[in-house]
Amino acid sequence: MQVRVQTSPLTAVESDVLVVPLAQGEQESEQVWALNSALHGFVKSHIQRSGFIGKEGESIRLQPQGHLPSRDILLVGLGKRDQLETETWRRVAGRAHKEAKVLGAQQLAWFFATGDSTEATLAAVLEGTLLSGYTFDKYKSEKNHKPVVQTLTLAGPTLQQTPTLLSALEVVQKTATGVFLARDLVNEPASVSTPSYLAEQAARISKGNGIKSDIWRLKQIKAAQMAGLLAVARGSAEEPRFIKLVYKPKGQAKQKIALVGKGLTFDSGGLSLKSAKSMETMKLDMAGGATVLGVMQVIGQLKPPVQVTGYIPATENMPSGTAQKPGDIIRYRNGKTVEVLNTDAEGRLILADALITAAADKPDVIIDLATLTGACVVALGPQIAGLFSNNQDLAAALLRCSQESGEPLWQLPLVKDYKEDLKSTVADIKNTGSGNAGAIAGALFLEEFVGGVPWAHLDIAGPAFAEKDGPYTAKGGTGFGVRTLVRYVLSV
Ligand code: BES
Ligand code: MN
Ligand code: ZN
Repeated sequence: MQVRVQTSPLTAVESDVLVVPLAQGEQESEQVWALNSALHGFVKSHIQRSGFIGKEGESIRLQPQGHLPSRDILLVGLGKRDQLETETWRRVAGRAHKEAKVLGAQQLAWFFATGDSTEATLAAVLEGTLLSGYTFDKYKSEKNHKPVVQTLTLAGPTLQQTPTLLSALEVVQKTATGVFLARDLVNEPASVSTPSYLAEQAARISKGNGIKSDIWRLKQIKAAQMAGLLAVARGSAEEPRFIKLVYKPKGQAKQKIALVGKGLTFDSGGLSLKSAKSMETMKLDMAGGATVLGVMQVIGQLKPPVQVTGYIPATENMPSGTAQKPGDIIRYRNGKTVEVLNTDAEGRLILADALITAAADKPDVIIDLATLTGACVVALGPQIAGLFSNNQDLAAALLRCSQESGEPLWQLPLVKDYKEDLKSTVADIKNTGSGNAGAIAGALFLEEFVGGVPWAHLDIAGPAFAEKDGPYTAKGGTGFGVRTLVRYVLSV
């Protein structure tokens, strides 16, 4: 989508569809007066008859019939002004884009009154517009033949094309392609999006963007003694991969950030087999890895002065004659032994190897993303990810970025006493607790492998995959975390 910034009064904007946002109770605003006089007074009566009061989600269409340069005008509600957040603009922009598509628009424009034209608002409208345009229809015989929106014009009487605005808009555009990559990787069926497929995609991303890739096959994974990855992969006919992507800035890096993503391409549960129903969406279990790949692609394009390394352990979790068995004990490279009581708690097993590997590279921080526990979905629902951290500064920085990006995180505690729950009678620890506080137990398990490095764990089991369409996310993979992490990397 081509993006333009234009200084112009409302009545001069030329587009197929022009969106004019109105907060609740602002039907008497300057914009409405301008439209009303251009359209010979019919706007006010039309608004009144329609019952439009500017609630979020409301919209009405005006057809100027040649009296204005735009073909259609959409008045869209923003809700109460005192409750207006950046996220509201994203949602409203997503809905407006979908309506514009139904109207067959190829050009879409937004008009911003002077008070509304902040950089954050313009960036949010672009973001909501771009992200709502995503579809995954490569396996559909009947595609949607509606034309797609090709240009987005952001217009306003006081809007200026400043370099900071243009660069903020460019960040949004590049970030959206990273979100789409993550969504695509999750939406591909598990028999396509296999460990070797993820590795190929990682190699492709690195080549185009000046990123170094290091992809280990079974032999190197064995040599590196990645006990968890090997144990989980034993049950599968697909070979595992360990993916490492390194982005190094020119000159001295301000910081070294390690991003770890769970790349479990299909989670059947292993011998601790899941039910048919809970398996239906388990292609989503590589969403953490997909998000890391999405972030790496964006970082490779934006080239910030920070070193960012992505680590993705990739395997399937399958039951078979060669699969690991409940009660097995594995020994990690850091010496820790783990009794595997439930083969369905496999994410932590493969993440442990990745965390050991990341910590050995001595980063300033490690951030992992994983669809780790159903318990986190029970606790926080489908929209919010759990945040755990051994470092409150890091947690606070991530919370701030999440707030700005509209990807909600909620911090949960790493309760020291609950470590008791992970004690094993035959090994150092076991991979499942009593079942209480399952999301915390998973996080406490991971903490054992970070070697004291400042670390944060995002349990994205809920928001990684949407069961229904949202204003700017479609049913399926959401790419959750890409926007927050790009923001985090750019903020250090
Ligand atoms: N991949 C699942 C977690 C999950 C569940 C993600 C639902 C998305 C939606 C994970 O590997 C898993 O199976 N976790 C178990 C852990 C338990 C055995 C301790 C769970 O949550 O039941
Ligand atoms: Mn599992
Ligand atoms: Zn899993």
